[in-house]
Amino acid sequence: MVDTPGIELVATEAAEAGADRLVIVTSPGKDAVARYFSSQPELEETLRERGKTELLAKVRRGPQLLRVETAIQEKALGLGHAVSCAEPNLTGADDAVAVLLPDDLVLPRGVLKKMAAVRAEFGGSVLCAFDIPREEISPFGVFDVRETNEDDVKRVIGMVEKPAPADAPSTFAAAGRYLLDRAVFDALKRITPGAGGELQLTDAIVLLINEGHPVHVVVHRGGRHDLGNPGGFLRAAVDFALLDPEYGPDLRQWLEGRIGTA
Ligand code: G1P
Repeated sequence: MVDTPGIELVATEAAEAGADRLVIVTSPGKDAVARYFSSQPELEETLRERGKTELLAKVRRGPQLLRVETAIQEKALGLGHAVSCAEPNLTGADDAVAVLLPDDLVLPRGVLKKMAAVRAEFGGSVLCAFDIPREEISPFGVFDVRETNEDDVKRVIGMVEKPAPADAPSTFAAAGRYLLDRAVFDALKRITPGAGGELQLTDAIVLLINEGHPVHVVVHRGGRHDLGNPGGFLRAAVDFALLDPEYGPDLRQWLEGRIGTA
């Protein structure tokens, strides 16, 4: 987005929420993405010598965020399978993991911190929900919820992956942010292919709920961009650029004229 790769935005979000390690789950041969986060001492030195301090700060930003590792998913068997591929990267001290889907930008940043506060209060796992129109619900995991004392925190008693609008238990859809108790890795070993023939993270969460594990959602009332398709990516790029103090005003002026000539 403008001058920052989506993966860096997500890494920043994780670091701000207190993460010190990032595991990128990717397919064979695609692990070069992790090298984006390694420092480039020679380039940094050149920029320093030339007095390009703003550029220097930009190239140092990614490598300073957190430690980055990769886990290889040999076959695209589904989101649940992808998450399970990161289990060997966990240390004995990790009692929970945050899962962030990098094609899903949740704005403004900061929902993970709120989710961590909810986990501290209720234990278990905490997910992020958006309240969206029922007719748009089918691409998502959808929660069956009960109220708590807090308006934006709900207890989850069920979850369905990609339901038809009429079958959706609510209009609360899962955004790509999860704070999952380590118990999810055991549940992931016990699921079978679900919606779309894929091993779904949703089905592991359903197992946890049915076994009495507390699951809550934080209802996020902000914005969202889906970078996973060209239309969504373009919309996000324009949105970020319009808000950018350097490029925004010029782009706005150009767009206004451009739309007029369409
Ligand atoms: C995944 C999850 C779904 C969630 C969505 C959010 O679906 O399976 O529950 O609502 O991400 O973006 P996907 O977009 O991979 O089909």
